[in-house]
Amino acid sequence: MIVNREDELEGTDMGVTPEQDHREGQPDANGVVVRGAVGDDLAGVLSVGHRTWLATYEPIAGPEYVAMGLAKWWTSDVVTDSIRKGRTIVATQGDDVVGVATYGPQDDAFVLWKLYVLPGHHGHGIGTRLLEAVVQRALENDQRRITLSYLEGNRQAARFYARHGFVETHRETPGSGLPESVWMVRDLDGARPDSDGARA
Ligand SMILES: CC(C)(COP(=O)(O)OP(=O)(O)OC[C@H]1O[C@@H](n2cnc3c(N)ncnc32)[C@H](O)[C@@H]1OP(=O)(O)O)[C@@H](O)C(=O)NCCC(=O)NCCS
Repeated sequence: MIVNREDELEGTDMGVTPEQDHREGQPDANGVVVRGAVGDDLAGVLSVGHRTWLATYEPIAGPEYVAMGLAKWWTSDVVTDSIRKGRTIVATQGDDVVGVATYGPQDDAFVLWKLYVLPGHHGHGIGTRLLEAVVQRALENDQRRITLSYLEGNRQAARFYARHGFVETHRETPGSGLPESVWMVRDLDGARPDSDGARA
């Protein structure tokens, strides 16, 4: 259901383990570092959520959907809970959070709940690095696949996920004139915890 697209409060712990992707924590050519989020990242994570949700969803789902999503999935409580459980990864440049990914369990699935990069930072590999970090977490948790959903009409997300090996499994229709949720899965068989993300 669309109301569960980012409902990451449920489920058992799937936090960060000491094993880390060797690229995590290392700055790229633009000085962007990808790492597990800590409490001090709260404001930066919220800022990324609010800015990207407006830019991404207002054109395809309308302002009410944006307001609903921000109130449901981007509150201090929800973000703090995800950070405390070790399920939030950030991309930072200097003191700024420029990208966020969150993940967690739902039933038997390992779900990528959120993947958001500030609009001014798209196309520099940040989304790919955040996704690679989530893949590492999944592998460290002995997960064989990652699932996610995006809203129909979000062509940027559709292209990005398809390029990174995700395939559509099913769609959910929320009604009320909102776009469908398109669910995808990526099989992680063959991926290695120490891979360079070439499959990602
Ligand atoms: C989808 C999203 C997370 C991708 O993040 P990103 O940082 O732009 O992703 P990348 O830079 O790794 O890849 C984007 C493109 O840039 C290209 N690219 C990657 N690294 C690059 C680099 N160093 N230089 C130039 N181009 C690069 C990739 O080939 C990719 O092309 P593609 O879109 O045709 O596949 C981002 O567009 C976003 O936040 N969108 C809005 C929010 C959203 O829709 N999130 C998903 C919700 S389900």
